[in-house]
Amino acid sequence: MGKPPTKVGFREYAIYQIYPKSFRDTTGSGIGDLRGVIEKIPYIASLGIDMIWFNPFFVSPQRDGGYDVADYYNIDPAIGTMDDFDELVRTLADNGIGVMLDMVLNHTSTEHEWFQKALAGDKKYQDFYIIRPPAADGGLPTNWESKFGGPAWAPFGDTGNYYLHLYDPTQADLNWRNPEVRDEMVKIVNFWRAKGIHGFRFDVINVIGKAAELKSSAPGEDPRYMYTDGPDVNAYLQQLNAESFGQDPDSVTVGEMSSTSIQNCVEYSNPDNHELDMVFSFHHLKVDYLNGQKWSNVRFNPIDLKRTLNEWALGMQEGNGWNALFLNNHDQPRSVNRFGDPTTYRVESATMLATMIHMLRGTPYIYMGEEIGMTDPEYHSIDDYVDVEARNAYNALIDQGLDAAEAFTIVRSKARDNSRTPMQWDDSPNVGFTTGTPWLRPTNQEHINVAAEEQGGKILAYYKKLIRLRKQHLAISIGEYQPYQLEHPQVYAFTRTHEDEKLLVIVNLSDKEIAYDIPADFATGEVLIANYPNPTVADTIQLHPYEALTLKKEVVA
Ligand code: GLC
Repeated sequence: MGKPPTKVGFREYAIYQIYPKSFRDTTGSGIGDLRGVIEKIPYIASLGIDMIWFNPFFVSPQRDGGYDVADYYNIDPAIGTMDDFDELVRTLADNGIGVMLDMVLNHTSTEHEWFQKALAGDKKYQDFYIIRPPAADGGLPTNWESKFGGPAWAPFGDTGNYYLHLYDPTQADLNWRNPEVRDEMVKIVNFWRAKGIHGFRFDVINVIGKAAELKSSAPGEDPRYMYTDGPDVNAYLQQLNAESFGQDPDSVTVGEMSSTSIQNCVEYSNPDNHELDMVFSFHHLKVDYLNGQKWSNVRFNPIDLKRTLNEWALGMQEGNGWNALFLNNHDQPRSVNRFGDPTTYRVESATMLATMIHMLRGTPYIYMGEEIGMTDPEYHSIDDYVDVEARNAYNALIDQGLDAAEAFTIVRSKARDNSRTPMQWDDSPNVGFTTGTPWLRPTNQEHINVAAEEQGGKILAYYKKLIRLRKQHLAISIGEYQPYQLEHPQVYAFTRTHEDEKLLVIVNLSDKEIAYDIPADFATGEVLIANYPNPTVADTIQLHPYEALTLKKEVVA
C-alpha cells in the first residue's frame, strides 16, 4: 500500500480532479472509462499529487453528467465495472494516491428506485422527497427557481402536488429532515468506506437543510437564501461525520458550498465543529458576472479577484476554517481564457494563475488539463454544447430578446462544457482520448497536449514544481497569510509565514509591464519559483506581463 494519508496531511495535499467521461476512453465508445484512468496512472503519479477527486461515476441516466444518481452502490456500466473500480483504487494506492468520491446527496435521479416507489404511491418513499401541494392561489408551492433555469417545482405524477428540484427536473431534492433519509446517506458513505475510500466531496451540501415550512422570498429578495446554509446543515454534517467518515482518522472531506458566506464556511470547516475538512466557495469566480448574472460576458477586473481571494483567505484564517483552492473545475470555463490570455501569453498566464492558487492558504485542486494549459474549445454553434445548463441558458437568452449571435457569445464565455472537452493527450484528431467519436468535440489540440508538454513544455513542469515545493515548505502548506499592497490595481501580492520562514508571492494579473516595489529583505532573498527565466530581483522589480514570483526572505543568522 502507498503512504497513508494523515489528518495533518490534507493541508499539504495537492488534489487532482478527473472528469472520468472525458479523461481516456479504452473501448472506442467515445466516453471515458475507469480502465482509461488505470492506463494513465503513470502520468497521474508523475504529477506528485496525493489524491484524485473523481466526478460521479455511479449508475445514472446522465441528464446532468452523472450528478443525477440512480444507484449509489454501483458503477455506471458506460464507465466501468466494480472490478475496474477496485483495481483502480488498489493501483492508485500502490502509487501513494488516495481516492475522493463525489457524493451527490442533496438529490437523486428521478429514475432512482426511491423516487419510482414514491411515484407509485409508497408513502414511506414519498417522505424521502420534498413534495408539497400547490400554494393557496393554486400556483407553485414557492417562487424558487431551478439553478438550471425555470421553476424549481415539477408536477409529482398526477397527484396535483409538486416535488422540489433545485437542479434539473430529473434531480429530485431529498428530504433530509427525515431521519431515514439521513440513515441512508450514512449507509452510502459507509459502503464506499468499506471499500477503502478515505476521500469524499459532498456536492452542493449547504442546500440540504431546508426548513419544514418552505417559504417564497419577499419581493426583491433572492429566493436562494430561503434554502441555502439552513440552520440544520451543521447538525446533518455532524451526524454524517460521527456515523461515517469521522470514524476514520485518515479521511479527507470537502463540501461544495453554493452562494454561501465566510461565516458559514468557517463553521463547516473549523475542526472543532467535526463537520468537514474544507470547503469550495465560488465568490471569486463571480467577478466576471455582470450584476451577479452568470449569463453575461464581461472581462473581470483584477482588483475584484484580489479582494475576494484576500477576504476569504483572511476570514477563513481568522475562524480557523480551511479553503479548497481552485480556479478550474468541471463547472467552470478554463481559467486561462477567463483570467489570463489564451493566445499571446498562454504559458505565462497559466503559470501565474497556478502560482496564485497554490500559494494561497488552503488545499489546491488541479482540474485535469489545467496542468498543460488547456483552453476553452472553439465552438461555433450551440449544437456543439451538450450540457443541459448551456442549452437552457441559450434558450432563455433568446426568449429575453437577444439575437442568436449575442446569446451564443454569452453561452460560449460561461458554458460548463468549456472544461468538459476530452483531455488532450496528443495531437491526433481525437487528441488521444478515443478511437471512436468523442461525446464532446475537442477543438484546439494542435499544440496543447500532454505529449508536447512532456517534451519540454513549461506549464506541466511548473505545476510539478509547485506541488513539490508545497511538501518542502511549511510556509506554503500551513503558513500564516497576510496581504501586501492590497490596493494595487493589477498586482496581487501576499506573504506566507511559518516560524522563521517568510515568503512573498507576487503575481501580475495583467498583460502590462509594471514596476513593483518590494521590501528590501526580500530583494536580497532567494527566488523559490518564477515563471520567467532568471528574474532580476531588486527593491523595484520590473514585472513582465503575467509574471509570477515567489521570494523567500533572507534569514539573518
Ligand atoms: C454541483 C456540481 C454540478 C452539478 C450540480 C448538481 O454544482 O458540481 O456539476 O450540476 O452540483 O448536482
